[in-house]
Amino acid sequence: MSQSPLLLALLLSARALAIDFGVPAHPLDVVLGRPTDHSVTVSVVAYQAGDGYVEYGPASGGTTVTTATRPFPVETGVEFVLDGLLQNAPYTYRVFWRSGTDGTYAPTAAKTFRTARPADVDFTFTIQADAHLDSNTSMPLYARTLANALADAPDFHVDLGDTFMTDKYGATYTDARPQYYAERYYFSLLCGSAPLFFIMGNHDGEIGYAADGTADSISAWSAKLRLGLFPNPLPDAFYSGNPTPEPAVGLLQNWFAFTWGDVLIVALDPFWPTRQSGNGTDNWNWTLGTEQYEWLRRTLEGSRAKLKLVFVHHLVGGFGKDRRGGVEAAHLWEWGGANADGTSGFAAYRPGWAEPLHALFVRTGVAAVFHGHDHLFAKQDKDGIVYQEVPQPGYPKLDQTGSAASYGYVTGTILGSSGHLRVRVASGKATVDYVRALLPADETATRKNGDVVYSYVLTGRSTQDAPAATWLLPSSARVPGEGGATWTTDLAVANTGSADASLTLKFLGHDADGTGGDEKSFSLAAGKSVTWGDVLGSVFGRATGWGAILLASSSPSLAVAGQTYTPHPGGGTFGQSVPAFASADLVKAGTPRAIVGVREDGAFRTNLILANATASSLDVDVSLVSEGGAALASKRYSLPPLGMTQVTRLVRDLGVSADIAGARALLSTPSAGGSFAAYASVIDATTNDPRTLLPR
Ligand SMILES: [Fe+2]
Repeated sequence: MSQSPLLLALLLSARALAIDFGVPAHPLDVVLGRPTDHSVTVSVVAYQAGDGYVEYGPASGGTTVTTATRPFPVETGVEFVLDGLLQNAPYTYRVFWRSGTDGTYAPTAAKTFRTARPADVDFTFTIQADAHLDSNTSMPLYARTLANALADAPDFHVDLGDTFMTDKYGATYTDARPQYYAERYYFSLLCGSAPLFFIMGNHDGEIGYAADGTADSISAWSAKLRLGLFPNPLPDAFYSGNPTPEPAVGLLQNWFAFTWGDVLIVALDPFWPTRQSGNGTDNWNWTLGTEQYEWLRRTLEGSRAKLKLVFVHHLVGGFGKDRRGGVEAAHLWEWGGANADGTSGFAAYRPGWAEPLHALFVRTGVAAVFHGHDHLFAKQDKDGIVYQEVPQPGYPKLDQTGSAASYGYVTGTILGSSGHLRVRVASGKATVDYVRALLPADETATRKNGDVVYSYVLTGRSTQDAPAATWLLPSSARVPGEGGATWTTDLAVANTGSADASLTLKFLGHDADGTGGDEKSFSLAAGKSVTWGDVLGSVFGRATGWGAILLASSSPSLAVAGQTYTPHPGGGTFGQSVPAFASADLVKAGTPRAIVGVREDGAFRTNLILANATASSLDVDVSLVSEGGAALASKRYSLPPLGMTQVTRLVRDLGVSADIAGARALLSTPSAGGSFAAYASVIDATTNDPRTLLPR
């Protein structure tokens, strides 16, 4: 039967529009995500229905672990969380799978990944941007770039977006579905070994102002497809990030931060929070939103990482309706604070915000901003920050830089695509290499695939050098009491070393995230001591308040103690001394400690003070054990990052109503890498005099 000319024309045009992604038939693909210091998520997509499991173990050999077997529905992301891993360790895994429900399981090739590095450990990661997979993309060249990145043995791989190009499919955006699976295949070439971090691009379908609260908008549809196929960070003890669910989607996993070795990685999303479309003449509608901005400020201020790196698809604002440009556009809109004519618009358009993004980055010591969108390699500098436009991984025309001028790039080193960036972190610095990808036909005697065509070193520019040591004073007070009494804290510090010390005091408050607390800096000469009487009033200018104080010092040789006291009705004062906790004094994960002498009866009560020494959320488990060794009660307390709390009448708070004396409180944390300061006050009911009990 012959087809009508019209139908034939339609079929031909559809075929002409369809992109050949060059993906070979393959039964399943595997992409890693969400690596932490104790886990990784293995995402498996099978293309024939079946089932399977993951076998994994230390790369050096030894005992392997096998997960439960899970069904593999067709084209559906199935996530296996491999947990209980050691920090900074290589692991090998294989996925065992079969189609159908009987027959034997076949393994994938063994691949290796690594858990997070602690500070001072060197590592490598890689970056790509704007894979596009459109008619200007060579799929074989993209595969070469990914192979080049794999040869770098990166700990993880960052994709700066414009990956799925969903909005380019127009009203029939669901036609983008095959592109998500094509990208899964390409990423699996690298990210079966190097976990993927996906950062939103403007063409990835997920724009806030296109969302309408239903699951049918392009934004919600795109997000749900992405989230099913690409596990990205969720806020937990290792990652911070967007905690607010989007209607019809859930947690977006669209902005997040984490520390890996000496590097703070901060990923931003200006697309979901932009809930108003622009007018084409100014770009003040483009925004991170208040929630992401405040999180970003706290994250950058609270990080002690030697290198702070920011990743975003394009500047929040930029030139014109397409939001182009690097440093030449960095003074504009939310990013830089200026209107198009150069006058300041920040206070009017962002009331209540502390400063524009670039100023925030300068103040908090950001070393580099990596952005995509403009399809070039452009390394630029502004106010000590490197602005790095990341080239495309699969653009086959050599050395094309024609778009630089039209996109507003004037200064810096500008090179054409294609390839990826390799970032080698060593000794607190990072070497950024542009690794060129070439198809075999484009290689010559002097131009080879894998050549490093440009290289530079990023140095940390933290506003203060990482401290040699920190002390955590778990409590301080400036609190009015009964009968005109005022609980007041004096803080004494002695520099017992032979070098002058730079000190920073940070008031963490109580029952809240302390990472953004007020900081005051001082110097203390070798051999000298200083006492800040009424530290909350004299140093921090507080009329009232109470909470923990973090002291960071450039010298490890300090002695630090607080004394908190109140006038005695009969004259004089009474109170207690509380030592500031050095690292060795903290209760740490895996090393529980006990406070003995807990008492609750008519004559005495016991309060417990807990202070989180880490910039991540922390759980503290408290168990009460009687004099006779009987377990009486236990409870878990959750502390925000650098958060402090007081548990008043600990025994009653644990649910024990009987009078207790001579009991001990066992303190521990289940949070990986967690540490905290703790002490108890046993308070005389008649005199209100507190006695300090320290964990031993
Ligand atoms: Fe873009």
